Amino acid sequence: MKFLATVLVGCLLPSILVVEGNNDAMDLPSCDFPAVYNFGDSNSDTGGIAAAFFPMIEPFGETYFHRPAGRASDGRLIIDFIAEHLGIPHLSAYLDSVGTSYRHGANFATGGATIRRQDESWFENGVSPFPLDIQVEHYTQFKDRTSYFYNQAKEETDRARLPVPEHFSKALYTMDIGQNDLAAGFRKMMNMEQLHAAIPDIVNQLTAQVRDLYNKGARNFWIHNTAPIGCLPVSTMKIRDPKAGELDEQGCFKAQNEAAMEFNRQLKDSVVKLRAELSQAALTYVDMYHAKYELIKRAKNQGFEDPFKICCGYHDTRNDVWCGHRAKINGTEVYAGSCGKPSAAVSWDGVHYSEAANNWVASQIVNGTWSDPPIPITRACHRPTLG
Ligand SMILES: *[C@@H]1O[C@H](CO)[C@@H](O)[C@H](O)[C@H]1NC(C)=O
Ligand SMILES: *[C@@H]1O[C@H](CO)[C@@H](O)[C@H](O)[C@H]1NC(C)=O
Repeated sequence: MKFLATVLVGCLLPSILVVEGNNDAMDLPSCDFPAVYNFGDSNSDTGGIAAAFFPMIEPFGETYFHRPAGRASDGRLIIDFIAEHLGIPHLSAYLDSVGTSYRHGANFATGGATIRRQDESWFENGVSPFPLDIQVEHYTQFKDRTSYFYNQAKEETDRARLPVPEHFSKALYTMDIGQNDLAAGFRKMMNMEQLHAAIPDIVNQLTAQVRDLYNKGARNFWIHNTAPIGCLPVSTMKIRDPKAGELDEQGCFKAQNEAAMEFNRQLKDSVVKLRAELSQAALTYVDMYHAKYELIKRAKNQGFEDPFKICCGYHDTRNDVWCGHRAKINGTEVYAGSCGKPSAAVSWDGVHYSEAANNWVASQIVNGTWSDPPIPITRACHRPTLG
């Protein structure tokens, strides 16, 4: 915390600005975020877990990158569309040592990451060894080491790929994490009551990391809540004969979505409390749950096919052949390839959304439609007036 004293507020404006309703919000000056630092799981991992373990395989990345690009999708993720919207390059993963530039931020997200440390491994259950607190630890090292090398550099070319130290307090800090804590709960806990009892601790551990980042100089936070996990095709397709009331009107697994909504309620409360506590922070809470749920609800009239259909992967009640893999089923070899038209798919691989779906959701959230306070992401450095 020693080096903080000099790093003050990036986007400090008099707190008399009233952020209320969209017209006012559009009148706010743009924040010109010079960088984005992201924390999360596979929903926003742009190459971290691929660098740490195994590269993504074909046909991942087929749509936009035309090669596997470290992302769990056929193309870009929501965080990529956010970067484009803010006018900065796609974020390089912190763990990726090849072809990276960190001038406009870094991505600490890793596929399979949880908020709480799990007693499981990547090899067993695909749980990332880099939960949120370790991602923040990576950020701390990143900040210290890049600042050191930036200040040591003799030539501008030696600094070109490093962040400008003053930008750490002006950057936007984005988070999208929690889904895997719920998934771990469904897998390991005896019942939903146990999981609900764990939610306050999961949320507290998230807010503890926001506080920690704030103490290290971060000021502008854009926090996604967790998506409707019970609508993921991998959840719904395993229910062979749904019991009455097990599915909601869209066909999503109700109990799983209720756990997600409870997490979100508590997360929102905590973000509101943090606004009072962290007097120089601008904290935006983004209702990713409802943005994605809207897509599932309106998929058919938005040019998508059945949102429960999986574009890449073969699954039935007994077998799971994940996207890009091969397996023998009933004695015949099955290759789980792409459906060929991922632009019409909501779900790419049963767990992760297609690029087309990510684009749809990103365009919904960047203008503040699903945010509290309801301001566009380009203006997310302004503190709402409290009280
Ligand atoms: C394998 O056999 C089962 C049961 O007969 C059938 O439902 C399933 O569609 C078959 N799968 C493939 C890939 O042939
Ligand atoms: C935000 O953008 C979405 C998608 O383009 C649009 O449907 C929505 O009406 C916009 N909302 C506002 C408040 O501008």
